[in-house]
Formats: sequence, C-alpha cells, structure tokens
Amino acid sequence: MKHSIALALLVCLAGCASTTGPEAGRALYAQNCVACHGADARGGAQVPDLTMIAARAGGAYPQIRVLDKLDGYARGQTAYDGVEMPNFGDLLTGRLARVQTDAGLSRPMPEAVIALEAYLRSIQD
Ligand code: HEC
Repeated sequence: MKHSIALALLVCLAGCASTTGPEAGRALYAQNCVACHGADARGGAQVPDLTMIAARAGGAYPQIRVLDKLDGYARGQTAYDGVEMPNFGDLLTGRLARVQTDAGLSRPMPEAVIALEAYLRSIQD
C-alpha cells in the first residue's frame, strides 16, 4: 500500500512538472503561436523572432517581461511599433503553479504561461 502511494506520488510529480515544462510549452506553442511567429519561431515582417528575445535584450533573457507578455500584464506595451499581439484569454485560465523567477522570487501563474515561457527560454539563440 505504502509503495503504491509513493509510486502514485512519483508519477504525479513527473506528470505535474511536465505541465509547466518546455515540452508542454512546445505543444501550446504549436497550437497557438505558429500562425504568427512561425514553426521555427523566427517571426516575420511585423512579428518578432522569438529565438532572439535574449539577444535583443543585450544577452540577458528578460524572463519577467516574457511572463508578463504571455500573461497579459504587458498589454499595451508592444515589443515593436505597429501590431499588438492578441491577448490569449483562454490560456490564462486553468490551474496555477508557482514559477521561480530569476530574481529568486516565486509567484503563482497559469501553468500554460509557465510552460510557454520555459519553451521560449529553451529556444533562445
Ligand atoms: C496574431 C499574431 C500573433 C500570435 C497568434 C501570437 N503573437 Fe506573439 N507577438 C505578435 C506581435 C505582432 C508581437 C509584437 C508586438 C507586441 O509586443 O505586442 C508579438 C510579441 C510577442 C512577444 C514579445 C517579444 C519580445 O521581444 O519581447 C512574445 C514573448 C510573444 N509574442 C510570444 C507569443 C506566444 C508564446 C504566442 C502563442 C501563445 C504568441 N506570441 C502568439 C503576434 C502574435
């Protein structure tokens, strides 16, 4: 009995982590972001290249800015002049998880946002 509980916990830990990891983010990206940013995330004329976020920020990947963009906090603060990225209301609902920020703080955010940020971080050039 104890073993099966421990096993269930382990499976949950693995499963739970994967809902916020880069692989989950990659799937969400394929469903929601490819149309504008492209399958290779290299963007286009008025859509930013998402593999160059860190490079554009002088080499320091701006984790909070990316989280805020995805979460919708950054609404109205466009990365570029021109078109503003649509707000992903559907992605913002669902289960919350705590995300560790680079500044050493943790804050609760929707799992989808955490996963997408993890994916974007993983594809920086
Ligand atoms: C309808 C087209 C469109 C879709 C769909 C879209 N984006 Fe964007 N995205 C843009 C445009 C245009 C910008 C630049 C203007 C702005 O910042 O709002 C942008 C900006 C961004 C930025 C800021 C880049 C920077 O350098 O700070 C991030 C991060 C981003 N998008 C991620 C995503 C993710 C992840 C998805 C899928 C959930 C997504 N986008 C879906 C058009 C889109």
